[in-house]
Amino acid sequence: MLIEIEKKSQTYQFEANAGEKLLYAGLRAGVPLPFECATGTCGSCKARVDQGDVDEGWPEAPGKERFKAAKREILMCQCSAQSDCSLSVPTKIAVFRDDDINPDHHVGLITQYDMLTSDVLRFEVELPADLSFHAGQFFVLQVPGVNGFRAYSMVNYSTGTNTLEFIIKQNPSGALSKWMFDSDRSNEQIDLFGPLGRATFHPDESHDLFMIAGGSGIAGLMSILEHGRQVNHFKHHNVALYFGVRTPADFFFAERLRAVKAQFPDRVSINIAFSNEPPTSEQLSGNDGLNYLQGMVHEHALPAVLEGGGNTMHYLAGPAPMVDALIRPLILESKVPADKIRYDKFN
Ligand SMILES: Cc1cc2nc3c(=O)[nH]c(=O)nc-3n(C[C@H](O)[C@H](O)[C@H](O)COP(=O)(O)OP(=O)(O)OC[C@H]3O[C@@H](n4cnc5c(N)ncnc54)[C@H](O)[C@@H]3O)c2cc1C
Ligand code: FES
Repeated sequence: MLIEIEKKSQTYQFEANAGEKLLYAGLRAGVPLPFECATGTCGSCKARVDQGDVDEGWPEAPGKERFKAAKREILMCQCSAQSDCSLSVPTKIAVFRDDDINPDHHVGLITQYDMLTSDVLRFEVELPADLSFHAGQFFVLQVPGVNGFRAYSMVNYSTGTNTLEFIIKQNPSGALSKWMFDSDRSNEQIDLFGPLGRATFHPDESHDLFMIAGGSGIAGLMSILEHGRQVNHFKHHNVALYFGVRTPADFFFAERLRAVKAQFPDRVSINIAFSNEPPTSEQLSGNDGLNYLQGMVHEHALPAVLEGGGNTMHYLAGPAPMVDALIRPLILESKVPADKIRYDKFN
């Protein structure tokens, strides 16, 4: 089916397969459509159907809470075309970087599956062929018997790999979470679409990095640390990471974080904040190079932000309330320019 999108004086055209989400079809064809979550929650991919018929997909999608059905407003990440369609998109169509990788559909095999803490598991997905992605990007995953795609950020980084590493925080009422935690899913086939996302790291931008993660928000930031480590970015640029979890027992990736600190001791600062318990006496002894703190992660991170942002890119990832609570003070109090903040809200 042919999809035509009008944006100001520009017209974009692309083909969508039967049942394929309009956002995914457009991005696959290289059309720089607006989106954030790609999974129905944020509302960024709003469009109006001017001509043609669409299947709305997920009727209760939170992203279209304030949409007007009479005006035929839709979420492109949820709708698929039932005929040739003509759409208009009210928000800005973002311009991609030249080195962006067009996302595509893939079928992958879960090859590794292990628990990192009592409610965080790590798994790897093997793809049939190598692909590239930017550190900080995510894929959307669809598993057997669960409707719709869910977003997960890659933990690993490599230029050209057929392995994607993910972590997932248990959500007892979540459908995909239940599927993943109910039994060992090694050798299960899943559908994926990606890579997606613009909270990305690019060494050629030559930034210092200031990163704040809550819980599983650490995933994409681990990928950024890994890319920075591989290209020796932290030889000449500072990185401060603030990672918040509830208790010492909820802390994971300690070894990987210590390894980055050990490789670049002068430029890397890694701070772990426990919201519900104090650090252990061993952690407080300071022997492993990481700083352990008690309190909410933002209470420790915000005072450390440089007034005006400097030449620093700020990355925020984790629960949506945490990210929302950080963006305002970063812009209004620390005067960080909005284009020096990249974030992923884990809805
Ligand atoms: C960019 C990004 C990166 C993320 N990275 C991570 C990560 O690395 N690790 C992690 O643990 N979490 C991550 N999250 C959060 C994760 O995506 C959610 O926790 C996950 O969607 C929960 O899915 P669930 O099935 O367990 O919960 P559910 O409550 O069952 O579903 C939640 C989501 O699934 C989708 N959905 C539900 N029902 C339907 C339907 N009928 N049709 C279509 N879609 C539906 C919606 O997106 C909904 O918000 C990320 C989120 C975003 C936006
Ligand atoms: S991108 Fe479609 S609702 Fe978020």
